[in-house]
Amino acid sequence: MDASIIGPISFDATATAPMYLQIAEHIAAKIRGRLLPAGTKLPPERQLAALFGVSRTTAINAYRQLEELGLVRTKVGSGTYVNEAPAEAGPQPVPWHQTMVPHLPSPLAGILRDLVSVDIAGDTISLGTGLPDPALYPTAAFTSLFERHFARLNNADLGHIPTEGYLPLRTLLAAGHSRSGIPATAANIAVVSGSMQGLYLLAKIFINPGDYVIVEAPTYLGALPIFRTSGARVLTLPAPGPLQLDLLEDYLVRYRPKLLYIMPTFQNPSGRVLPLAERRALLALAARHRLIIIEDDPYGDLHYDQQPPPPLKALDPYGGVVYLRTFSKALFPGLRVGWVVAPEPVIDRLAMEKQYIDLHSANLSQWLLSKFLGEGLLSGHVERLRAEYKKRRDIAAAALQRHCSSLSFAPPSGGFYFWCRLARSSSAGTRLLLHEAARQGVAFVPGEAFYPDSGGEQEFRLCFATNSEPVLQEGIKRLGKALSHLDKIAHADSRPLIHASQPII
Ligand SMILES: Cc1ncc(COP(=O)(O)O)c(C=O)c1O
Repeated sequence: MDASIIGPISFDATATAPMYLQIAEHIAAKIRGRLLPAGTKLPPERQLAALFGVSRTTAINAYRQLEELGLVRTKVGSGTYVNEAPAEAGPQPVPWHQTMVPHLPSPLAGILRDLVSVDIAGDTISLGTGLPDPALYPTAAFTSLFERHFARLNNADLGHIPTEGYLPLRTLLAAGHSRSGIPATAANIAVVSGSMQGLYLLAKIFINPGDYVIVEAPTYLGALPIFRTSGARVLTLPAPGPLQLDLLEDYLVRYRPKLLYIMPTFQNPSGRVLPLAERRALLALAARHRLIIIEDDPYGDLHYDQQPPPPLKALDPYGGVVYLRTFSKALFPGLRVGWVVAPEPVIDRLAMEKQYIDLHSANLSQWLLSKFLGEGLLSGHVERLRAEYKKRRDIAAAALQRHCSSLSFAPPSGGFYFWCRLARSSSAGTRLLLHEAARQGVAFVPGEAFYPDSGGEQEFRLCFATNSEPVLQEGIKRLGKALSHLDKIAHADSRPLIHASQPII
């Protein structure tokens, strides 16, 4: 295959379009101009990558784009060919990617693109996403609530409702919090479309570009793009391990950060629980500096050993804690119901900001939930989840010990995740393991996705909640195979196992 049929190449250094689109456009122009006639075999991805000096993933994405345009087709095991009937030269399509505001590259995007270039087995078991098991969704209870109550639903409840949320639901949530040590009224509660939206809105109302925010490292990967796109400068507090209050104080004095984003209970991804004494010490320091704390607590109810200490919000001596919750883990994520508990001025401003993007969260979910909570169905359901997820946690721990003895990890006492570390650090890290694991038919999230800067190369997150026991065991067995395969390669060949992947954009 003569790769020169593609050249000569010249790139516009000022172009904002991603590299793969520029390459696709270059080849598309040649196909449309019949310089690459129908049936022409295009260079293999590796050659294309070498020709343009880009990663193989970028080359794959360029071909995928051409396929989407209908200009080429891929024959499995043979290669990529110019289509027999290239699109007639009609009106030029709108170059959408070039018209849109450039999007900030994130390490996660790099990892995801890396993943799509892996040959994933058809029956891959995902231990990656942090989802509850759909088999445990309380669908029977919701069906029954719907059947019993829908006919009596006041039609006014199907129109617009206040942006802060459906009042009966907010009242029930406030009463629940008040009983468990967080005094609140409905005026302290805003219902949002998932806690992700809550976090987005909080970032919007508190952060000006250039402000400092503090996050844990590792932290929830969904929070990082929110802070990045808000223009915040991100400082990190190491987690797990004891909270480094000296470092925090240093940040507070030196940078006057706007807020701290923290998950004190069953942290995602590390599973860490901040002990009571550390919670109190953190709050005392935060109170002295009037630091705003955003406490994200999606997993607090899902404890499998002893009950965790109370949330920071319940211990808050200065009213600076804004508390975020969601029903995505204990019920199901498709409800899209999360909520913020905060002083009224914060709720008022948050509701105003929410109106610009979302007049209010979906009424039907909120109405059904208010029936579910009103009939006292939540606690029994959460009890059942605890029993089931505890079994899965124990099975996963035993399977990891048996099949993946070269990993180090601490079984979490709640939440959804094992945070694992490669015992023998390798220059290739967990990204290479991810490739091998994908070949064996199992997936996880590599550690780098959870760090705002560098870090996490030797770590990864496994979710034990989503899959039934046999599937979970099989997934971990496959992970064990991937680890032993990499061990064998590492012994056979001491050269670096993988080249650092090139940034794609
Ligand atoms: C720590 C944390 N915050 C927020 C979310 C987002 O939840 P929601 O579905 O409510 O947007 C998740 C989900 O994984 C999470 O783990």
